[in-house]
Formats: sequence, C-alpha cells, structure tokens
Amino acid sequence: MKSVFVVREAEESENRVAASPQSVKKLCDAGFSVWVEAGAGESAFITDEEFVSSGAAIEKDATKAVAQTDLILSVQPPRVDLLKKAKTGVSLITCYQADKHADVLKCIVEKQGTLYSMHDIPRTTRAQSMDALSSQSNLAGYKAVILAAAQSPKIFPMLMTAAGTLRPVRVVVLGAGVAGLQAIATARRLGALVAVSDVRMAVKEQVSSLGAEFIEVDSDEDLETAGGYAKQQSDEFLQKQRLATEKFLLNADIVITTALIQGRPAPRLISADLVSRMNPGAVIVDLAAERGGNCELTVPGKTVNHHGVTILGTLNLPASVPLHASEVYARNILNVLMDQKQEDGTFGWKEEDDILEYTLLVRDGRALEDVADTARSQALEAERSAGDTEQVIVANNK
Ligand code: NAI
Repeated sequence: MKSVFVVREAEESENRVAASPQSVKKLCDAGFSVWVEAGAGESAFITDEEFVSSGAAIEKDATKAVAQTDLILSVQPPRVDLLKKAKTGVSLITCYQADKHADVLKCIVEKQGTLYSMHDIPRTTRAQSMDALSSQSNLAGYKAVILAAAQSPKIFPMLMTAAGTLRPVRVVVLGAGVAGLQAIATARRLGALVAVSDVRMAVKEQVSSLGAEFIEVDSDEDLETAGGYAKQQSDEFLQKQRLATEKFLLNADIVITTALIQGRPAPRLISADLVSRMNPGAVIVDLAAERGGNCELTVPGKTVNHHGVTILGTLNLPASVPLHASEVYARNILNVLMDQKQEDGTFGWKEEDDILEYTLLVRDGRALEDVADTARSQALEAERSAGDTEQVIVANNK
C-alpha cells in the first residue's frame, strides 16, 4: 500500500473525518502519498490548507482519486457507487456495521479488495491504541453529561452563597464501560453526586476510585465474559437490579444510560412507569438509543418529554465533538497502519496477526469467516454471490 485517499463523509450528520493534519504528516513521513477529498475536514473545522501543509494533495474529484488509490480511509463506509470506481485490490478501513453495510462488503469482495473494520478491534493491550470504539465512546460519555447539564433546570455543583445553599445534582449512571466511566468522571468534575450500576463486579473498584457510589445488587451471578464484556442477564437478575436502582432513579436529576450487551438489543433498565414517578425536570441521556435504548420511552434520534422528564435518544454523539473525535480516530487508524509495516519498510496486511484475525472481514476478496460473527457470515455470502468458488475460512478464536 503506497497511496491513501481520505473521503469526505457522505452522511450529512457525520461531521468527523478519518484523518487529521497530524496523522497526514505521519503517513507522508512513512512514505505514503496522501490525497484528501476537498472539504473532507470542513465539518470538523479542519481546512484543506491544513491538510496541504501536512503534505496531502487535495482532490476535488473523488471518483478519480478512488480509482487510483491503494487504500481508502473513512469514518462511515463510503457510498457504494463511489466504491465501485475503486481499483481492483483496494483496501478500505472504516467503521463497518454488519446490519447496515452489507452492500459495502459485497462491493469490496467484488473488487478483490480488503475490508478492515474499526469496530472489530479486539480489547487487548496491544490493540488499545487502535481501539476506535473506546476513543469514540470516551468522548460520547463526556458529551452526554454536557448535554444533560445544558438541559437540566439545575446547576451541577454545590454552591454556598449569601443567597443560600444550592445542593449538588444527583446523577445516576447505568453501565460503566468506557462511556459510562467518562460520564462519571465528567459529572464528578462538575460537582455532582454520582451513583452507578453495572453488572460486572470489576467495575465496582473503578467506580469508587472516581468518587462515585456503586449500587449493589443482591446476586451472586457472574456476569462478565472472558473478554471483559457483560453477559446477557437473567430476568431474575434484572428484576433485582430494578429494585436496587429504583430509589436512586427516583431521586435523580440526571440519568446517563450506556448499558450494552454484545450482539443483543440494549437491556431495558428504566420503565415508562418509573419515568412517570421521577422528579420533573430530570434528564435522561440514553447512549444506548442506537440499540433500542435502556429506557422504554427512548426514541432514537429524538427528544421526548414525559411527565416533565426529558429523554434524549442521542445518536452518534462523537460526531458532535468532531474535531477531537477526528483527531483520536485518525490516530487510531495511523496506529493500525504503522502496525502493518513490513520488514522492508513498506506497508501491507501481514499474513499472521492476532488483531487482523478479528478486523479483516474480507482479505483480497476472500471472506474470513467466524461462524459466530454476522459480519463474517455476510462476507462469505457476498463472496459466494460474487462467484468466487475458492473460500478461505480462517478459524478464529474470537
Ligand atoms: P459496552 O459498551 O459493551 O457496555 C457498556 C457497559 O454496560 C458495560 O460496562 C457493561 O458491563 C454494562 N452493562 C451491560 N448490561 C448492564 C445492565 N443490565 N446494567 C448495567 N450495566 C450493564 O462496554 P465497553 O464500554 O465497550 O467496555 C466493555 C469492556 O471492555 C470493559 O470491561 C472495558 O473495561 C473493556 N475494555 C478493554 C480495553 C482494553 O483492554 N484494550 C479497551 C476498552 C474497553
């Protein structure tokens, strides 16, 4: 791989860009020729001039650039009609989602290309610097608190003034993964009292170290997978958790929900009935909205008011802080590429690599299948329909 093309994102609501002036400079230093589509950084407040100063060439005609480049970088997958113009053997690094982007995958198979999914980076120490889910969730957790603060009729910190004492707001965070932990830290920095529920016991210590209270559930169930994710919970556990969290939620001014279980709809943790009994003026920011929401009343992408409680069904919060989100995403991609430096100093996908095992959904037009993984199953299907009879099935320990 010698040349890189950074596309201007096609979706109107996507303000991020897959490169920053810093990442472009490092890519050029490493020997890549970098093209950036004109205006690609505009919504993230990065100008074409900044990209040029870092060594990139600006290309107005995306079709022309796509036809020549070895590697395409994007946040959301590019439009399929543009990808169809790519040259044979092209590589694409993007945030692939199996349920949305099957046509993109099919197109890469047809191009005998390679698809690297930034959403499938394993949660290992070596992959940490490439982990886009973490870098973006971190920002989402921060922004969720800022949105809630802007919406709330109260200020966060305790204030003792001549006009009286204002008590600090009470924040409840449900789900303390990457986004939840950042939400806790941000709410604490603003002066809130924070209580937290999670099903993984390892979280308890992290929550305490941030100065928040962990809400205990009376259960012995071990709900953490070997990979550090939450397991699907039994109805009995969820019922106990509802009982434990109810009094905190009824007292809350702000609720940030981030609870997710891999490959499943978001667990329902707040019923409509409970919302009816919450304090008027309370604000719920549901970061799980994209997967159906942790609150029964959440409407993805919309703000709902119920008995004076505002429920924000926010989608793609990282795109609302596009400059920083692009900077860290671009850094994640840079680290992916630097990890693929060959012994002779050139860049190419390594034959054996414990991260590529998870992230390459298609390699040189061949699907890499893990039977448990929808994305790879789709890849295989696309390969079959592309008429390629040679199937390489890479067993993967995911
Ligand atoms: P996630 O987005 O899959 O889930 C968010 C949180 O919701 C998790 O903490 C989960 O335990 C929690 N949850 C699920 N059901 C719940 C329920 N009923 N009630 C309350 N909470 C519930 O998680 P995320 O943020 O992707 O992190 C998953 C794990 O990966 C964490 O253990 C994190 O520390 C770890 N991680 C490790 C990394 C590394 O070593 N490189 C990098 C990033 C994360």
